[in-house]
Amino acid sequence: MSEVVLATPRLILRPFRPEDAEDFHRNVMADEEVMWFLLGVKSFEETQAFLESRDRIPQEGKPGLWAITLKDDPAEEVVGYVGFLAQTLEEQPVEEISYRLASRLWGQGMATEAARATRDWFFKHTTLESFVGFILPENTASSAVAERIGMRYWKDAIVKGFGVAVYRMVREHWAGSLFAGHCCSP
Ligand SMILES: CC(C)(COP(=O)(O)OP(=O)(O)OC[C@H]1O[C@@H](n2cnc3c(N)ncnc32)[C@H](O)[C@@H]1OP(=O)(O)O)[C@@H](O)C(=O)NCCC(=O)NCCS
Repeated sequence: MSEVVLATPRLILRPFRPEDAEDFHRNVMADEEVMWFLLGVKSFEETQAFLESRDRIPQEGKPGLWAITLKDDPAEEVVGYVGFLAQTLEEQPVEEISYRLASRLWGQGMATEAARATRDWFFKHTTLESFVGFILPENTASSAVAERIGMRYWKDAIVKGFGVAVYRMVREHWAGSLFAGHCCSP
């Protein structure tokens, strides 16, 4: 099956490759600002283990994670990720949207641009009914991204021992909105 690659005005979203670990580590997992809400910076070995544990490759019908690169970077360095993780909420399986972006790129709408593209892909290319976001209450940058892509606060929950606000987006809301007509490629 061919790779699912998404293009947005400024970004290319493509599956992770084994050789991405160094860029991803330097730009994301060793970036103190990115890791502030995520239990601190990681060693290179921890980054490798993280990538191995999150090896869901997006395929038609099945969500996964995409590495983010910049269209105008000839080196195509990985500067973040966006996509969906298989999680459990109150003993039910859920798809969690997750995003991280190198801090030098914050404040330009790139995380929102990437998350929008994967939101649209999710509803166009899977039959799943919803996805959620688990957001620490103090992580206002993350809840702002969730709200900009149309997610809404749903409820509070304890996830892996942390009190989080659960945001959610349901297919019906997406299909009934203007979002559905402004999709990404492909
Ligand atoms: C969550 C995270 C990706 C958000 O990054 P971000 O840069 O704030 O988000 P965006 O890229 O969407 O940029 C939004 C900002 O750019 C501005 N902006 C500029 N141009 C924009 C555009 N075209 N579209 C949207 N926003 C734009 C917005 O006004 C906003 O500015 P503000 O922060 O001053 O309100 C980033 O904080 C991060 O990586 N955090 C660490 C990891 C994390 O916590 N992930 C979430 C939990 S998994």
